[in-house]
Amino acid sequence: MTDLNTLEADVLAQVAAAGDLSTLDAVRVAAVGKTGSISGLLKTLGAMSPEERKTQGAAINALRDKVQEAIAAKKAALEAAELDARLASETLDLSLPAPYRRKGSVHPTMQTMDEMISIFAEMGFAVAEGPDIEDDFHNFTALNFPEKHPAREMHDTFFFNPKESGERMLLRTHTSPVQVRTMVSQKPPIRIIAPGRTYRCDNDATHTPVFHQVEGLVIDKGIHMGHLKWTLETFLARFFETDAVTTQFRPHHFPFTEPSAEMDVQCDRSGGEIKIGQGTSWLEILGCGMVHPNVLRACGIDPDEYQGFAFGMGVDRLGMLKYGMPDLRDMWSSDVRWLSHYGFSAFAAPNPASGLS
Ligand code: PHE
Repeated sequence: MTDLNTLEADVLAQVAAAGDLSTLDAVRVAAVGKTGSISGLLKTLGAMSPEERKTQGAAINALRDKVQEAIAAKKAALEAAELDARLASETLDLSLPAPYRRKGSVHPTMQTMDEMISIFAEMGFAVAEGPDIEDDFHNFTALNFPEKHPAREMHDTFFFNPKESGERMLLRTHTSPVQVRTMVSQKPPIRIIAPGRTYRCDNDATHTPVFHQVEGLVIDKGIHMGHLKWTLETFLARFFETDAVTTQFRPHHFPFTEPSAEMDVQCDRSGGEIKIGQGTSWLEILGCGMVHPNVLRACGIDPDEYQGFAFGMGVDRLGMLKYGMPDLRDMWSSDVRWLSHYGFSAFAAPNPASGLS
């Protein structure tokens, strides 16, 4: 019994003296580990008489439990002390000024979008917005996509799981649903642009699953393709900061416009760089057309009284062209070196008076 008392006092003293977790663990192994002193005592039970085994067994087990409890309590105390020390040494004073070298910048996509908004705002366009999560009606049906038409799949749509009613919500594949929302809620004349995020299941050097578009919509009496062409040419010349641009319409198909066109802008590709406003090449830049009478009707506007044009362009793509970024995927990489190279100062918000870029 004395042996056990001595052992107990000895081990508990070692536990109390352990100053860190690894010392404590060494004490644990030496006492209750496989070949530890207390474990060794348990192995001697087999050679004892039944009477002795009863009393000694209970005493050794009680000792082992007591030691294990002491070790667990000490371990919790050491861990708490370690955490306190770490918290004390890792304090962060959020009121200190940020180091200069970590200055943030405006992402080129946002800069490009602000430039586009500022040019169209000067031309009298208001900004309209709509939800990123759309329903089938606003993204497709009201835009004259026939039911079950393959164009719905062509858009590489991200669909949500169907609701109980069977309806499937989706991530809008273009900003055109904002046209619908605007025409349903406002009376003509209408002159809006809708900048925003759009989503398609696509990923390569010139496509990312999330991208940005600016949609334009004008509804009034007597609107024709000439208005559309002037608006877009005026915009493109301002955007690319050149005196004039030469453009061409190429016939195209969109369910929501008739006629539909893609617009190309004349450019120079010699020297590995694309220069807008000169040269002999053409660069596809946007989609557009006259609003389809079915779309006007779906939104409660009489096509015999009102006509309109619409256009949609990719913000990321226009930014790439203007600022010479070769790969669209870099826009999403959050690489600080890329951001500080292509980013813009937050103090240089684009506006027509002080300049765009
Ligand atoms: N919504 C079309 C697209 O994303 C672009 C577009 C908008 C075309 C408006 C014509 C008119 O492909």
